[in-house]
Amino acid sequence: MKYTIALLAGDGIGPEVVNQAVKALQAVGDTFGHEFEFEEAVVGAIAIDQTGDPLPEATLDVCKRSNAVLFGAIGDPKYDNNPDAKVRPEQGLLKLRKELGLFTNIRPVKAYETLLDKSPLKKDIIEGTDMVIYRELTGGIYFGEKKLSEDGTVASDLCEYSEAEIERIAHLAFKAARTRKKKVTLVDKANVLESSRLWRRVVTTIAKSYEDVALDFLFVDNAAMQMILNPSQFDVILTENMFGDIISDEGSVIGGSIGLLASASVGNDVAMFEPIHGSFPQGAGKDIANPIASVLSAAMLLAHLGLHEEAATVNKAVERAIEKQIVTSDLNKNSEYGTNSVGDYIANTIANIDEETTRINHENINFGRSTII
Ligand code: IPM
Ligand code: MG
Repeated sequence: MKYTIALLAGDGIGPEVVNQAVKALQAVGDTFGHEFEFEEAVVGAIAIDQTGDPLPEATLDVCKRSNAVLFGAIGDPKYDNNPDAKVRPEQGLLKLRKELGLFTNIRPVKAYETLLDKSPLKKDIIEGTDMVIYRELTGGIYFGEKKLSEDGTVASDLCEYSEAEIERIAHLAFKAARTRKKKVTLVDKANVLESSRLWRRVVTTIAKSYEDVALDFLFVDNAAMQMILNPSQFDVILTENMFGDIISDEGSVIGGSIGLLASASVGNDVAMFEPIHGSFPQGAGKDIANPIASVLSAAMLLAHLGLHEEAATVNKAVERAIEKQIVTSDLNKNSEYGTNSVGDYIANTIANIDEETTRINHENINFGRSTII
């Protein structure tokens, strides 16, 4: 079958990591007989440089006519350190989420057995962690009215949610829990925020239609602590936009590197897949960025298109790279593998999932003689 994928590589290390995901998808295409057609478009700082707009209309059109969007990373220090900048790269991503109606961001957090000693957290704490964060993505404080007084001394950001916005993501979270450990934890701040109390009421009502799923609640400050004290207690975490942003970065510590965490943003129509990490400008062009989050995002893309065996093969190839320590330096200080060679290894493993071939090509990569594209 033929699929069109919009490639929005973005800024910093975005293009390098997206390239590795493309290699993985091409290997899947060759192995399973699918055709992936990639259409590139600009977003973020690079789009501002080229067009003045962080999300040009042409980019949005490319996304809308694709089967899925593969996103790299966004952000540039020249904007981060300038609070007065009127146009910011992040606006491109936020507008994209809004325009595509991507109201649910799904972020799996898992402790890989072979990486347990990479996390700064103790092994016995993180062992067995396998959770997924369902983060609301198009509402809340990110999108509420923003105000700055005329004299520039008072500012506010409104956090607003409607029942309907909570219901649609809650259903997705409960459905996901049904296929997992059957537990949903709503993370909020209902002891202080009216919007959180609405979340509790709506989610409690919805839970009645999912009696096989247990629902519990945690205030976000406590949740932040529980995530690193006892992460294996969680299954599906359901939360609003900003709390989800914060606790998902925290969750990345469990896996040992933020370079491992992939995400899917889904909504009414075309879905988008992106690593949770940023654009890591200091690492751009150095062949040191970890491509695994981007490759795992491509696996989520495949699963979303219903290509489950293909997705499982990509996941297996990534696991094998991790097992064999074919990883970038964030996961192994002494690693001799760069972004490209890790991507090559994964693509090659997808194409030759049998052990022997992988071993031979691994040796090729080791000696820098890889001919695998
Ligand atoms: C994320 C990022 C974005 C967010 C930024 C780049 C706007 O941190 O996807 O987690 O805050 O949502
Ligand atoms: Mg974030």
